[in-house]
Amino acid sequence: MSSNKSRRSSNQLEVGAQQARPVEHQHAEEIQPFGKIAILPIALDLQVCAASIENLNQLLADTMTLRDLYKKHHWQVTGHTFYQLHLLFDKHNAEQDDMVDEIAERIQLLGGVSLAMGADVAETTSIPRPPKGKEIVPVQISRLLEAHELVLKEARESARQARQQMICWSLGLFVRTNFKFGSLPSTL
Ligand SMILES: [Fe+2]
Repeated sequence: MSSNKSRRSSNQLEVGAQQARPVEHQHAEEIQPFGKIAILPIALDLQVCAASIENLNQLLADTMTLRDLYKKHHWQVTGHTFYQLHLLFDKHNAEQDDMVDEIAERIQLLGGVSLAMGADVAETTSIPRPPKGKEIVPVQISRLLEAHELVLKEARESARQARQQMICWSLGLFVRTNFKFGSLPSTL
């Protein structure tokens, strides 16, 4: 014999709980298109914000790509140095991930829109795309070094511009991006 609970219809189970359901399949115009700036009360000229946002978004795309390159190599590394490099690549992946969050949130604080999705990052990054397959360790490390150097060049140029425009927030980030590279172990 079945219980009262199991005899209740689907309708009976739903009635009275509709307002607690999540509202799904919602669509609307975006509230700030990419490339537009929402002026915030931060005492910075709009043109100054625009230049800094553009530089930070380029740095963001390249830092995200560098972060993912570390994870790719963490997964795909092979050979007798596997264990050490496997751990090291993951450590640097985490450090780049911290930088990504900081750069992205700085863009938002300047009134901009941060790049976020992989496809948009792929369109923007200056770091050459690696193959999907595995590569040998010297090639993995060489790719990482070249990617770091590219980010360093960008960060230094952006820091120079930020210094001229007295954007201390952005300047601090660009300088720290340089500093991060200085902390890399000698194996890289
Ligand atoms: Fe892992």
